[in-house]
Amino acid sequence: MRTLAFFNNKGGVGKTTLVYHLAAMLAERGLSVLAVDLDPQANLTSMFLAEERLEELWADGEHPATVFGALRPVIRGLGDVRTPHVEEVTDRLGLVVGDLALATFEDRLSQAWPNCHNRDESAFRVMTAFHRAMAAAAAARHADLVLVDVGPNLGAINRAALIACERVMIPLGPDLFSLQGLRNLGPALREWRLSWSELRAKNPDPGLDLPAGRIEPAGYVVLQHGQRGNRPPKAYQRWIDRFPAAYRTHVLNEAITASLPGTEVDPYCLAMLKHYRSLMPMAMDARKPVFSLRPADGAIGAHGAAVHAAHADFSMLASKLAASVGLALR
Ligand SMILES: Nc1ncnc2c1ncn2[C@@H]1O[C@H](COP(=O)(O)OP(=O)(O)OP(=O)(O)O)[C@@H](O)[C@H]1O
Ligand SMILES: [Mg+2]
Repeated sequence: MRTLAFFNNKGGVGKTTLVYHLAAMLAERGLSVLAVDLDPQANLTSMFLAEERLEELWADGEHPATVFGALRPVIRGLGDVRTPHVEEVTDRLGLVVGDLALATFEDRLSQAWPNCHNRDESAFRVMTAFHRAMAAAAAARHADLVLVDVGPNLGAINRAALIACERVMIPLGPDLFSLQGLRNLGPALREWRLSWSELRAKNPDPGLDLPAGRIEPAGYVVLQHGQRGNRPPKAYQRWIDRFPAAYRTHVLNEAITASLPGTEVDPYCLAMLKHYRSLMPMAMDARKPVFSLRPADGAIGAHGAAVHAAHADFSMLASKLAASVGLALR
């Protein structure tokens, strides 16, 4: 199982939209994909599922078919992780359903981290709950790749979610906020990685499946909101130009000694995705990725060509991503 998180502590850059589209493209290109919604805002879930289905899944009670329901026993100290229900989107794409109630785990996860220092077995069960739940769901689905969407913060839920992921890809908007976000995110990831490697050694239960907590940086994607024509306007370009250096400095912790490639040719920049403008609300209404829109959905005339271009963009990004985790696409 390969696990990849999409993370930036700056909100609203387009993380969830990216996960939604990439999950669909990777499945279209032949992988078995599991999308996991670990953001208590549950936006990824609401992109995939209609309101009628959400109402059933989030009905009063214990939410047995959401990620909250799967984790609830271990977080409450009443049992262990259950294999999460996987909502089938297509035969190659499944969703571990998000839940607003996940927010109630923040405190428990926050307390568990220091208690791992004391070799507390229940604290290790709590800290590894996301990892173990995702591994069980991925095994049940025979998933090749798990894509994880998280909320925009450096809190305890995200720390537990990220240590459960082998890799992290960073979506960036072309603005000062995303640049600033990299300054906080890079050191936070290093701190989580280091602390978890120390904590792992204190686990008292050799039978417990611990995540390695590598959280390897897998590059960044620039989501070019506000682009006009084929080139971004200068106001956005000046932030985009700073990403190659900022990524190396803050995320990779490298000293910059030589001149760097431009963002478009930076090997760490996996894609510069366009602002899809009116196609995006059209896609959300049709509950489809932008690149799957048809004339019947309203994608006629120039929209048809834009849908085609979006397909090529996401297909290219999917190829780079799959290659980076050693998976072959068709
Ligand atoms: N490439 C794009 N073209 C047009 N609109 C986009 C694009 N990417 C995202 N959006 C829009 O931007 C808004 C924010 O996107 P999204 O919810 O994916 O961001 P996010 O980073 O996941 O937010 P949060 O930090 O709250 O989780 C949404 O309305 C979405 O439809
Ligand atoms: Mg989101």
